[in-house]
Amino acid sequence: MDLKLYIGVDLGTSAVKLLLMNAEGQILNVVTKEYPLEFPLPGWSQQAPEDWRKAVLEGIPELLKRYNGGDVAGIGCGGQMHGLVILDAEDNVIRPAILWNDGRTAKQVDYLNGVIGKEKLSALTANIAFAGFTAPKLLWVRENEPENFAKIAKIMLPKDYVNYILTGIHACDYSDASGMLLLDVEHKCWSGEMLDICGIRDAQMPKLFESYECIGTVRPEIAKALGISENVKVAAGAGDNAAAAVGTGVVGEGGCNISLGTSGTVFISSETFGVDSNNALHAFAHADGGYHLMGCMLSAASCNKWLMEDIYQTGDYAAEQAPISDDKLGENHVYFLPYLMGERSPINDTNARGTFIGMTMDTSRADLVQAVLEGVAYAIRDSVEVARSLGLVINSARICGGGAKSELWKKILANVLNAQLQCLPSEQGPGMGGAMLAMVAAGEYGSVREVCDKFVEIASTVKPEPELAAKYEAHYQKFRKIYPACKQLFAELI
Ligand code: XUL
Repeated sequence: MDLKLYIGVDLGTSAVKLLLMNAEGQILNVVTKEYPLEFPLPGWSQQAPEDWRKAVLEGIPELLKRYNGGDVAGIGCGGQMHGLVILDAEDNVIRPAILWNDGRTAKQVDYLNGVIGKEKLSALTANIAFAGFTAPKLLWVRENEPENFAKIAKIMLPKDYVNYILTGIHACDYSDASGMLLLDVEHKCWSGEMLDICGIRDAQMPKLFESYECIGTVRPEIAKALGISENVKVAAGAGDNAAAAVGTGVVGEGGCNISLGTSGTVFISSETFGVDSNNALHAFAHADGGYHLMGCMLSAASCNKWLMEDIYQTGDYAAEQAPISDDKLGENHVYFLPYLMGERSPINDTNARGTFIGMTMDTSRADLVQAVLEGVAYAIRDSVEVARSLGLVINSARICGGGAKSELWKKILANVLNAQLQCLPSEQGPGMGGAMLAMVAAGEYGSVREVCDKFVEIASTVKPEPELAAKYEAHYQKFRKIYPACKQLFAELI
């Protein structure tokens, strides 16, 4: 039988995860390659595209070690969104990529939202400006690094740079392009007016595709180095959240996916275009050809990682969570605001900061761990509440991302949201979605829906418990008061 293999690439913020899948949807191998993240100033976040290139090119041969590279038929990438990658006329990277969780553009965001105006931005792009979006970063480079701005020949997003390395083609898909604040999301084309506002020409933008379309095949020299055929088809791919939603089967109308990764996102898919009238949720294109609304918090599983690894100096997350027994849930007097990189949805405040509040002499190490897990869950609920206020019903959601490995965290989240959480056999959302998009691009399946129907299965469901959900409801109402009380102070502390 003709064996076909597909590679899904999850180009994350701390690592790239490469996943090898057969045409029946079985994961055969996973390889993770980490790379550094630079925080040159408080709230700034950048990364070298060269590190992504190295990690992908070294990782693929490792992924294929026990397999025949000649069987690979397609590659699809889900990537961290919004990052500004700029290339010169020779396709050299001009400066480190400014990432999705970078907060340096407060001034440019104020200009876009205040002077150009939220209404106009929303009419042109379906969204307003947030610090992590790509357009404010272009304005920042224009103002602060004019010599770099003058050299720009192509503007790309992180996964598009990886696709460029593989194929030599400058391409972007609609889901990821939506987060640039340069796309007319409804009509799926670059907004000429937004390009003008940012001082950019159409020729500097990549060509647009649906996520499941093939942008081209692998360059001969790269194919040779990777041990795969030059005929391997590369899908346009998607922003990591849209790819994750494909991986968890959240396509078509009304499904919800929650990602507990470095960021925390609430993703609601839709067949038709729609905008949150307050622009608190992003209105983006989906990788299935439709649209979605999304709330994104900047620090989710990364808050837990920070507490475990940077503060407690341990890698044993389970041991730190072990003392948090069932009777402790819904009883914690310590609260945590998870704004370690400022916050996007729904408060849009680059000055917001991480905060523990409510500690007493008997507060334990585990109480702080619990407060972090709960604080992230409350902040996810903030986005869920915005969606509910638009009339969307969220009684259940799929869940993916590293945080979904913790049974305790899922239990807390299900009760904070008062919603069922459906878990898949693997928490690898974007990589799965990337491989599935590659299958459609290579013609293995006819549509994203078809491949989701074939592969996606629910392994378990975490249900809210009425008594615990009621306790968490009371705690959430207290949590909601903390940020407004600190907001002014945060601005003064900067
Ligand atoms: C979404 C967002 C994050 C990144 C994380 O708007 O900024 O989820 O995509 O990789």
